[in-house]
Amino acid sequence: MDTTSLPGKELAAAINADTKQRAAALTEARRSPRLALVIANDDPASTWYVKSLNRAAERNGIACENVDLGVDATAEQIRSKLTELSGDASVDGIMLQTPLPKGVSLEDVGSAIAAAKDVDGVSPLSLGLLASGLPGFPPATSEAVVELAKFHAIPLSGRNVTVIGRSNVVGKPLAQLLLAENATVTVAHSRTTDLPAVTSTADVVVAAVGRAGLVTAEHIRQGAVVIDVGTNEDENGNLVGDVDAASVTGKASALTPVPGGVGQVTTALLLRHVVQAAESAR
Ligand SMILES: NC(=O)c1ccc[n+]([C@@H]2O[C@H](COP(=O)([O-])OP(=O)(O)OC[C@H]3O[C@@H](n4cnc5c(N)ncnc54)[C@H](OP(=O)(O)O)[C@@H]3O)[C@@H](O)[C@H]2O)c1
Repeated sequence: MDTTSLPGKELAAAINADTKQRAAALTEARRSPRLALVIANDDPASTWYVKSLNRAAERNGIACENVDLGVDATAEQIRSKLTELSGDASVDGIMLQTPLPKGVSLEDVGSAIAAAKDVDGVSPLSLGLLASGLPGFPPATSEAVVELAKFHAIPLSGRNVTVIGRSNVVGKPLAQLLLAENATVTVAHSRTTDLPAVTSTADVVVAAVGRAGLVTAEHIRQGAVVIDVGTNEDENGNLVGDVDAASVTGKASALTPVPGGVGQVTTALLLRHVVQAAESAR
């Protein structure tokens, strides 16, 4: 069987074109939409992501400010900065970078981000709004999975979709978004016994784990669609997903590439959220 690639480039470009236009309209009316990136780590992957977000924001006419609190920032300092930015009328969107300093949980400090500015949907309130089907920002990565599937005309309604991973930032919100698309959702995790048995009955398998090459041909049924959210570094420093692409090729009907799949769409959706937040605030 041929395995089709499901790239994110074209969808990301379409989202960005719309964002750029809306950002220009906001800038002309009053001021540029503004994103605050709050950082409390010196993690290389996070540093790389911040730089790439800075560049993408600039390309799309969004002002992006890095608020670096240092690696020793306490939960109280992070909460206090997030509360301050939440009350600052010149800031439209707030994104808290992970990893956070040891002992600081995203769920704890994330609750200090006002829901209207929580453009990556990390606060417990945003997750609750999503689970209740109420308006709010879903985490951009989870939304990117659904948008990418729709863009490539992968049906979700009535299909069996298995998500591997149950984090508050990817797996759980993704399960909610998929339910909203009328998929029948199974969520697998590290305590799932016999992962291949659970995943190999699914029409669509989404891997959001953070373990290179975890998903192989034995995890999928013939013709399944495989969406790879994972971003891992291989032994040569290259970015690789959670799916062993060589193994599933020929058995899967379609597979998202890493890089060039979910990640590109994630960044575009995050910036779209900033523009949406700015439009709502005005
Ligand atoms: N492309 C993007 O834009 C983007 C954005 C965000 C994250 N990511 C990537 O997505 C991946 C997941 O991120 P995350 O923040 O959700 O990670 P996370 O918080 O570490 O969660 C990983 C999840 O995978 C599960 N898991 C771990 N080992 C497993 C195994 N052997 N079998 C089945 N499940 C297993 C864990 O189960 P337990 O709950 O039982 O521990 C957990 O639910 C990472 O590679 C991350 O870099 C990509």
